[in-house]
Amino acid sequence: MAKTKTKPASTPASPKAKAKPAALATPTDLGSNSTRTVAEALNGILADSFALYLKTKNFHWHVSGPHFRDYHLLLDDQATQILGTTDAIAERVRKTGNTTLRSIGDIARHQTIKDNDKDFVPAAAMLVELREDNLKLIESLRDAKDIVDAAKDNATSGILDDWTDQAEERAWFLFEASRKG
Ligand SMILES: [Fe+2]
Repeated sequence: MAKTKTKPASTPASPKAKAKPAALATPTDLGSNSTRTVAEALNGILADSFALYLKTKNFHWHVSGPHFRDYHLLLDDQATQILGTTDAIAERVRKTGNTTLRSIGDIARHQTIKDNDKDFVPAAAMLVELREDNLKLIESLRDAKDIVDAAKDNATSGILDDWTDQAEERAWFLFEASRKG
């Protein structure tokens, strides 16, 4: 038997601040206003991490030239490291009582790191662009650190330090690899 869809009687005026489904209301002792701000910061970092992961893989796949082997391997290591942070970022959001990203479309709506869909990018330009993206991610991580500290979210604060250290290491390696001479 066909079911008829019933529309909700009214929709909220502001769709931007989407309410969390009651079934996903993970208990937390952190204040709800502050955890939402933490969640917004973390969801932005998560989207940027996925964007940076895919760009790093893209460059790993499409790099060419005399340093092919070095760059190809370096970018694979970095992509693996970035991907390795994503699950923990998303689960920090859930542990602090909020909801996280759900799709590629959701990533696209939240990411601030820009995609690079060019047909060809010279190897040296790849390293420069990835270093700048990692530095941008570091900036977001530092901003998030202020937010989580204000919310007294110690666990997120501690893990943000690790993610910052990893991003700083990637930026360092990319800088050294791109030096001439
Ligand atoms: Fe590969």
